[in-house]
Amino acid sequence: MTDYSSRKKFLKKISAGIAGAAFAPGILKAAAAEQSGTEEQPLRLKKYYSPNDNIQIGLIGAGGMGTADANTAITVPGVKLVAACDLYDGRIAEARKNYGNDIFTTRDYRELLQRKDIDAVIVGTPDHWHKDISVEAMNYKKSVYCEKPMVHDITEGADVVAAQNRNKVVFQVGSQGMSSLGNEKAKQLLAAGAIGKLNYAEGFWARNSPEGAWQYPIPADASDKTVDWKMFLNKYPDRPFDAKRFFRWRCYRDYGTGVSGDLFVHLFSSLHFITNSKGPQKIMAMGGLRYWKDGREVPDILMGMFDYPETPEHPPFNLSLRVNFVDGTGDNTYLRLVGSEGSMNVEWDKVTLFHNKAYAPADDPLLATKLKKENSGRYERKTMIEPDATVFKAEDGYKGAHFDHFYNFFSAIREKRNVTEDALFGYRAAAPALLCNDSYFNEKPVKWDPVNLKLV
Ligand SMILES: NC(=O)c1ccc[n+]([C@@H]2O[C@H](COP(=O)([O-])OP(=O)(O)OC[C@H]3O[C@@H](n4cnc5c(N)ncnc54)[C@H](O)[C@@H]3O)[C@@H](O)[C@H]2O)c1
Repeated sequence: MTDYSSRKKFLKKISAGIAGAAFAPGILKAAAAEQSGTEEQPLRLKKYYSPNDNIQIGLIGAGGMGTADANTAITVPGVKLVAACDLYDGRIAEARKNYGNDIFTTRDYRELLQRKDIDAVIVGTPDHWHKDISVEAMNYKKSVYCEKPMVHDITEGADVVAAQNRNKVVFQVGSQGMSSLGNEKAKQLLAAGAIGKLNYAEGFWARNSPEGAWQYPIPADASDKTVDWKMFLNKYPDRPFDAKRFFRWRCYRDYGTGVSGDLFVHLFSSLHFITNSKGPQKIMAMGGLRYWKDGREVPDILMGMFDYPETPEHPPFNLSLRVNFVDGTGDNTYLRLVGSEGSMNVEWDKVTLFHNKAYAPADDPLLATKLKKENSGRYERKTMIEPDATVFKAEDGYKGAHFDHFYNFFSAIREKRNVTEDALFGYRAAAPALLCNDSYFNEKPVKWDPVNLKLV
C-alpha cells in the first residue's frame, strides 16, 4: 500500500536538495523503477538488431494519427512498415509516397491481417472500428497498437480483454502520455508523499480553432468512388455517402465518442497510471453545444465530475475534467493533482511540484516551538525557506512520450512481456470517458464498478 503520509518523509527520503534527478539520480531512478510498477524501465536502445529482432508492421487507418504513429514507430530501431490499409484512395497514395511503392496496400484490413510477413499492426481508424479490427488482428496473432479510446462503447471492452488473454499477444492502447518521463516522475513523486494525501485532481483541454474543433479539410476528390463508404459504416445505419461524416467522423455518435472519448481518455490514462487507480465509481457530465453548430451530434463544451473511492492503491479523491472548444485562453491542456501538502502539474516532459507554504498542522511540534520562541521576546533569527515550486524537466534531446510509447510496445513484443496500457487498463481508462456521454445525454449520474467493469 502506498505511503501517502507526508512531504517531510518525502524530503527526508530524497535528501534536502529536492531538485531531484539532478541531485540524487541513483536514488530517484531506483525508486522510480521500484514504485512505478511498469515493466518498461529502463529504456534501452540497441544500435543494431539481429534479423530475429526485426518487427514488420502494418498500418490500418492511414489518416492523421495513424500516419503520425507509423512515422514514430519506424524510428524505433529494427521496425519496418510493410503494409498500409485505408478506405480513402488519397490516403493509400499518401502512404505509398511516405513508405515506398513496394509496400502492400489495400482497402480491406482483413487482407492485411492475413499476411504472414506482418508481426504487429497499428489501428488508427475512427473509434467505431477499434474493437472489431483489434480483436480480429489478435486472433491472427498480431500484436496491436490501437489508438485511444480502446472502444467505442463500454459493452465492447470485454471482447478486447478476452482476445488479448486468449491470444497472448502484446496489445497497447495509444495514450502515449503514459509512457512519458513526466508521467513516470509524477507517479514516483506521489508515491513518495510529495504532495501528501491526494484528495483532488483536475484536467482540461482548451481549443479555439476549426481544426481543433474537428472541422478537418475535405479533399476535393472525396466521393463514393474514392472512398469505401459501405465499409466505413460498419454496423451503423446505412445512408448515402456523406463526406462530412467520413472526414469529420468525430462529430457523429455512430463513429466517434465525443470530446470525452477523444480527450478525457488521455487524462484518465495518465491519472490512472500515476495513482494506480482502476477508476471512478460515480460519473456525472454537463455541457452543451455552444458554438460549432455544424450538424454535429455532440457538445463542444463538456465538464465531467468523478468520484474515486478509497482503495488499497489510493485515498478517496475527486476529479474534475473539462473540454472547451471555444476557449479564448488558447490551445492548451493541463493535469493537476492536489494533496494535503501540495500539488503538482503534470506534463509529458515536465512536472512542477508546488509546496503549500501555509501548511502548518495544529499539532506540529516545530510550529509550537517557533510560536513559543516568538512570544518569548528573544531575537528570532529568520530561517531559509524552501522554494515553493520545484520543476522536474526532461533532459534536452528527450525523444518524447510518443517515441517512448512505441519503444515500450516493441520492447514488449521482443521480450515477450506485457505493457502497462494493455486491454484491461485501456478499458478502465475508456469506460469513464464513454460514460460521460451517457451521463450527458441521459442527464443523470452513472454508477460504475471499476474493479468488475460493470454498471451498477
Ligand atoms: N493518441 C493521440 O494523441 C491521438 C491523436 C489523434 C487521434 N487519435 C486517435 O486516432 C484515431 C484516428 O484519428 P485521426 O485523427 O487520425 O482520424 P482520421 O480521419 O485522420 O484517420 C482515420 C483513417 O482511418 C481510415 N479508416 C476508417 N475506417 C477504416 C477501416 N475500417 N479500415 C481501414 N481504414 C479505415 C479513414 O479512411 C481515415 O484515413 C482515432 O481513434 C483517434 O481518437 C489519437
